[in-house]
Amino acid sequence: MLQVSAFESGAFVRPPGIARRETLAHPAARTGIDPAQSVRFALAHFVLSTDSAMFPILEARTVAPDVKLFRIEAPRIARKRLAGQFVILRVHEHGERIPITIADSDASRGDITIVVQGVGKTTRLLNSLDAGDQVKDVVGPLGQPSEVERFGTACVIGGGVGAAIAYPTAVALKKAGNRVLSILGGRTRALVILEDELRAASDALYVTTDDGSYGEKGLVTDRLRALIEGGEKIDYVLAIGPIPMMRAVAETTRPHGIRTVVSLNSIMVDGTGMCGGCRVSVGGQSRFACVDGPEFDAHKVDFQNLASRNAMYREAESRALAEFLANPDRDLALVHECRLLALVEGPGLALAGGPGLAPAAEPGAAHPRGRA
Ligand SMILES: Cc1cc2nc3c(=O)[nH]c(=O)nc-3n(C[C@H](O)[C@H](O)[C@H](O)COP(=O)(O)OP(=O)(O)OC[C@H]3O[C@@H](n4cnc5c(N)ncnc54)[C@H](O)[C@@H]3O)c2cc1C
Ligand code: FES
Repeated sequence: MLQVSAFESGAFVRPPGIARRETLAHPAARTGIDPAQSVRFALAHFVLSTDSAMFPILEARTVAPDVKLFRIEAPRIARKRLAGQFVILRVHEHGERIPITIADSDASRGDITIVVQGVGKTTRLLNSLDAGDQVKDVVGPLGQPSEVERFGTACVIGGGVGAAIAYPTAVALKKAGNRVLSILGGRTRALVILEDELRAASDALYVTTDDGSYGEKGLVTDRLRALIEGGEKIDYVLAIGPIPMMRAVAETTRPHGIRTVVSLNSIMVDGTGMCGGCRVSVGGQSRFACVDGPEFDAHKVDFQNLASRNAMYREAESRALAEFLANPDRDLALVHECRLLALVEGPGLALAGGPGLAPAAEPGAAHPRGRA
């Protein structure tokens, strides 16, 4: 189902008349569908063509090695987002789009919180920014919200940065009246994040580290198995982390018939269900993680297919990272160029796609940068 409301209600509202800039070839062109007839096509181009939107970073702090927490001004997203939803952001004009979960938000302040692990070029570039810098565009809230019901006892499992993705759902599950047991895992102590925050949202919190440097030595699945075998009646499990971890959790709960949900980190491009980049196989059917997910029934997910699809661009990703690390200033200059352009173009356009009000430009008005 097309998520029209996501774009209408999120921070990205493009005023009519602002010229469109092509960024991706549309799949409709390959499938023979008349793009002009496609609402999705129109919306995606709407989404994929931002102008001078800028999203100020209000706070940035390192929470673990290579992991940074950002508070970003995005009032519309902050008002609308629900647990489990994400944004797609682009650091600068020529940057790629990456999906990042909304870990928290404050509607009264008008900001969202994200937690980013630097794994490749874009996440490392983002993590090199600080308070006072700006992100070129942030689109959302995207995806289906987490399933939040009164299950009884819910076990929320976060591996590494997965803790930040699981956190908002743990809060929502607690608020819905569940007994929440959280298991936080990391390879080593420094990689265990958001412990205090998750503890506050949980009836009990367990920490495991692979090397035993903190909490219990072992994997999150060791603790989960111990809870189940110790007689804990668990009604629902949400597991978010690396693919092998989510697969292991699924195999741990399967024999016990415990409903288990995972959040899939497939590669995403447009976030509108059009490009097919995020296609996953669930129960033998193709689903799009960006619009049908990102959460799915763990017992039905084809994790092998997900892992192979995520590895498809590894060579290009390594090359992009190596080029970035060799010359980070080139991308940082683009970040600052975006900021200067937004200032030069004045508050009218800077507001148009960005946080806050979206004053409409006249239909047919030329783009001030002269690009179509
Ligand atoms: C719905 C959703 C929500 C997400 N939320 C968060 C979040 O809150 N915080 C966060 O840090 N990350 C999150 N991710 C993962 C994040 O989008 C990727 O890490 C990011 O796109 C990598 O971009 P890059 O250019 O830095 O690295 P790339 O160059 O694209 O990749 C570098 C390496 O990172 C790994 N990688 C690539 N893409 C992904 C991916 N989608 N997931 C996991 N590993 C990947 C691969 O091993 C790859 O070789 C989320 C992903 C999805 C789909
Ligand atoms: S990201 Fe393109 S279809 Fe989901």
